[in-house]
Amino acid sequence: MAKKITVITGGSGGIGRSVIRKFLDNEDKVIVLDIQKIRNEKILENENFEFIKTDITNPEEIEEAKKIIEEKYGYINNLVSMAGVNMKSEIGGMETIAIEDIDKSIKLNLNSHIYLVKIFLDLLKNNPSSKKTITMISSINAISDHGLPAYSAAKSGLYGFMKSISNSMAENRIRVNTVSLGTVPHNDETIEENEYFQTKLQKIAIKDFVRPKDVADTIFAITYITRGIIGQNIVLDMGQSI
Ligand SMILES: NC(=O)c1ccc[n+]([C@@H]2O[C@H](COP(=O)([O-])OP(=O)(O)OC[C@H]3O[C@@H](n4cnc5c(N)ncnc54)[C@H](O)[C@@H]3O)[C@@H](O)[C@H]2O)c1
Repeated sequence: MAKKITVITGGSGGIGRSVIRKFLDNEDKVIVLDIQKIRNEKILENENFEFIKTDITNPEEIEEAKKIIEEKYGYINNLVSMAGVNMKSEIGGMETIAIEDIDKSIKLNLNSHIYLVKIFLDLLKNNPSSKKTITMISSINAISDHGLPAYSAAKSGLYGFMKSISNSMAENRIRVNTVSLGTVPHNDETIEENEYFQTKLQKIAIKDFVRPKDVADTIFAITYITRGIIGQNIVLDMGQSI
């Protein structure tokens, strides 16, 4: 059976490590596109792990990464489009957001996903498998008020993008979905003494956070366990947005 190839953007981040591990445990070839290399020796030493330094806001760099993958493998099975961050200046809302950060945020949190799908589509289509996926990581900022105006606009735009392509992708046996995350602390140790997390916790009915492992399990389930989820926004937030 051909090796399954999963491309993960933003894999070097706090949630990314868990997602990478989950797909490596499945013996996928995992190719991470990120501007920084992951600092985790176990992952770096895994023969199925590959890193291509790529700024996903730059379509030329994505084309370069695609070329490398195309020459080596010719196809991919899954695209997990996960890279994204809010801008510091938007934490204070419309009073503080810098004009240049509006563009930066939209470029990273929305445009880059569209570039990635456009550029990697050939490699997904080249794969004769009937089980292929694009999973884009969004946020509950897309559906409820948690501040961060440009980030929220971008994540919400991702929903419209996902809906607009889900039918045509399904014709190519590619299941496209978004996963909207609530607050996900990267390390359990940082929760108790952290004022930001403690304030957030008060607003979550179940008084617990989604963890990186939950995100990995959800993406993996959409990719390999369930078959019928197409064109959906899966909210993974411990009820933070209800
Ligand atoms: N952690 C949370 O509480 C939370 C909540 C909701 C949604 N999310 C979403 O989950 C995803 C992952 O978040 P995280 O918490 O792991 O964030 P993180 O900041 O830990 O990781 C983000 C990763 O994206 C990479 N990145 C940033 N700009 C890039 C660029 N131009 N090109 C390539 N890579 C780039 C960074 O190097 C980093 O490895 C993001 O899309 C984020 O919006 C996170």
